[in-house]
Amino acid sequence: MSSIDAGNARSIAGRVVLITGAGSGIGRATAELFAAEGATVIATDRDPDAAAGVVGLDVTNTDDIDRMVDSIGDDHGRLDVLVNNAGLAVGAAIGTPEYEAAWRSAIAVMLDGPMKMIHRCLPLIRASDAGRIVNVSSTEGVGGSANTSPYTAAKHGVIGLTRALAVELGPEQITVNAVCPGPIHTGITEVIPDEMKEKFARRRVPLKRYGQPIEIAHAILHLALPASSYITGHALLVDGGMTIKNN
Ligand code: NAI
Repeated sequence: MSSIDAGNARSIAGRVVLITGAGSGIGRATAELFAAEGATVIATDRDPDAAAGVVGLDVTNTDDIDRMVDSIGDDHGRLDVLVNNAGLAVGAAIGTPEYEAAWRSAIAVMLDGPMKMIHRCLPLIRASDAGRIVNVSSTEGVGGSANTSPYTAAKHGVIGLTRALAVELGPEQITVNAVCPGPIHTGITEVIPDEMKEKFARRRVPLKRYGQPIEIAHAILHLALPASSYITGHALLVDGGMTIKNN
């Protein structure tokens, strides 16, 4: 198993981890979980005031990304885990005046963003002995819904990026995986009234409830561990069974 010490393979302690969109929701829960497990977490967000300890980084801004790469290089000389989580709810019906702006925004944040982060962080990830990239896609990355095509296209795209880079970076023992959350209680879904959420979950989700951000964070942690060294190119559904339910 290459140079990974078997004794530490199931621990994230001491690993250098960069998380985008870590001011809220899934990213926040992931930052807190990794920190509690002893990782050195660089929690970033477009909104640096979103939570304590968050550093400003807008994934659409290449100057921000380059500054972050320089700073991690100076402080740590490597990046063990990159979690591309930043995202936003963007919906628009095709043919409407707002559609093209919605498309540009969804692709800029949720497809160009992960690509730019991976592209520019790669020298630091190559300096790790167990490089891990985890991209947050969605159940919209494997299916589709009406009036969400900009979001859905971005989330499908990020699975394509995941799979192609898993093949490309495999020879270097860098793994690239995606998680596909179902409906989760976060900033993105807080606009939906509780009774609508409950009705949706009862009808569509075998576990009969929305998930919590920490339940996605645990899946991300699993893929980020040195021990997950033979999992790559995977798109892991974390959706309470929603996607496989037929009726
Ligand atoms: P959230 O709204 O609680 O958190 C998203 C964070 O991303 C926010 O703190 C926001 O400021 C940040 N962000 C937005 N644009 C950014 C940018 N350009 N650069 C840096 N940060 C930016 O929402 P949630 O749900 O925690 O979202 C996290 C990821 O999970 C997203 O990629 C989302 O698409 C995905 N997801 C969420 C689901 C849900 O039901 N909540 C379901 C499936 C996927």
